[in-house]
Amino acid sequence: MRIDLLTLFPRMVEGFFSESILGRAVRKGILTIHVHDIRNWTQDKHRRVDDTPFGGGPGMLMAPQPLFDAIEAVQNLAPAAHAAPPAPVIYLCPDGEPLTNELARELSTAPRLILLSGHYEGIDQRVRDHAVTREISIGDYVLSNGTLAAAVLIDCVARQIPGVLGEENSLTADSFNNSLLAFPQYTRPAEFRGHAVPSVLFSGDHGAIARWRAEQQTEKTRARRPDLFSTHQRQHANTATTTSTTIHEPANPQFRHQVPA
Ligand SMILES: C[S@@+](CC[C@H](N)C(=O)[O-])C[C@H]1O[C@@H](n2cnc3c(N)ncnc32)[C@H](O)[C@@H]1O
Repeated sequence: MRIDLLTLFPRMVEGFFSESILGRAVRKGILTIHVHDIRNWTQDKHRRVDDTPFGGGPGMLMAPQPLFDAIEAVQNLAPAAHAAPPAPVIYLCPDGEPLTNELARELSTAPRLILLSGHYEGIDQRVRDHAVTREISIGDYVLSNGTLAAAVLIDCVARQIPGVLGEENSLTADSFNNSLLAFPQYTRPAEFRGHAVPSVLFSGDHGAIARWRAEQQTEKTRARRPDLFSTHQRQHANTATTTSTTIHEPANPQFRHQVPA
């Protein structure tokens, strides 16, 4: 996959893309990430990319000219294999569709993505209407600019691409698979400062371990994320054996206090 990121702050993500699992994916050639400074396309002699909003109001807006030119130039940068159809142009913004694992999985199948990061009060609506093809939010809060939001999107999309996670890092134990949160995990030592690891994990009984993990996932999800829990219940409505339909009060004290009233 090829990703082009358009931002006013390329240096914000320099280290991010070369570290950890993302860095390994880049070195393996599974992913190429090109970061472009939007200012390179401004025709303003002072390299300005913003202007005051029509109709008044606080702050500045990113003007259409540098953004249209940058998007068009970057669309034409990809090698022939990536040329058609044009890459989706995703604007990171708080009023976009929420980023979820499911959406990340969908995006991970695209050969190319162009990501646009805004700044100031955002970008001129004409860019959103005529150059952007999708708008994505990373959460219900407002950041100062979209560069870190784009980095978050790249990270969670990349881990869905086959070959990016090593065998030691499986997606199946992650939260949101099967609409559930992850189960608790422990490593050596078996006892630390008087806190013991649950004995079932030493039993060697793989069935019992799987059941314990499923119960933990169900309890945690019900306590912390009733919205996800309802989705999980709907998805498994016909599975009589699931514990999710029979648990009414989380047995694990770790989760009990978080049950909504
Ligand atoms: C200060 S914000 C502009 C917010 C805009 N005035 C609004 O209320 O929707 C500046 C930029 O940060 C990025 N941004 C802020 N919050 C974001 C979020 N939750 N998800 C994705 N991008 C975000 C967007 O690219 C946006 O153009």
